Amino acid sequence: MNKGFMVVFDGSNGAGKTTVIKGVEQYLLSKGFDVLLTREPGGTPIGEKIRDVILDPTTPEMSFMTELMLFGAGRAQHIQEKIVPALAQGKIVICDRFDAATFSFQHYARGIDLDTIIKINDLALAGFSPEINIILDLDPNEGLKRVHSRGEGLDRLEDEKAEFLIKARNGYLKQAQQSPEKFEVIDAAQSKQAVLADVINIIDTLLVKRS
Ligand code: TMP
Repeated sequence: MNKGFMVVFDGSNGAGKTTVIKGVEQYLLSKGFDVLLTREPGGTPIGEKIRDVILDPTTPEMSFMTELMLFGAGRAQHIQEKIVPALAQGKIVICDRFDAATFSFQHYARGIDLDTIIKINDLALAGFSPEINIILDLDPNEGLKRVHSRGEGLDRLEDEKAEFLIKARNGYLKQAQQSPEKFEVIDAAQSKQAVLADVINIIDTLLVKRS
């Protein structure tokens, strides 16, 4: 049996991750792959409880360090309980956000120093790393318009000032520049079909490399 691998979709809020992930899942299933969809924060029963705490808009007083450690705690549980077993069964794991989000949001946007982020992330990851991070890049103002037009309320992080989301977006772009072997950036302002076509090209290349 082939060893599985993990693809992360990440990027600006409202950039269309959910739609793209569904499209990729269908594509991979149609080719006969075993797929596991998951997300962060969340992904496990414990992780989903942590997600509720992190995103609750009624507790804006959460300290940045509490937030960082909660993301780390959820990730540790997620990897051990769900991701590693799925990969061992040869599954392709598709995860909606992962560790790159911690660098973007908690370091580049919140301003927590890099050493602290690396420490917490390393504790959570325990040596694990996804194959690729596909970043759906979009102007956060455009992303929030899309969130509003879907009639969804804003979570605690989306409720931050526009400047915060711009810093997070730039954080993804910086990470992609620094580690091009781990990141692909897609222009999410394109049509849904064009975005999905770009993503499927990347997935196909990955599948060829691993065959
Ligand atoms: P979602 O709405 O895309 O599921 O993501 C939830 C929010 O959590 C989103 O605003 C990004 C944020 N986030 C972080 O700040 N750090 C992290 O490590 C992760 C995984 C998400």
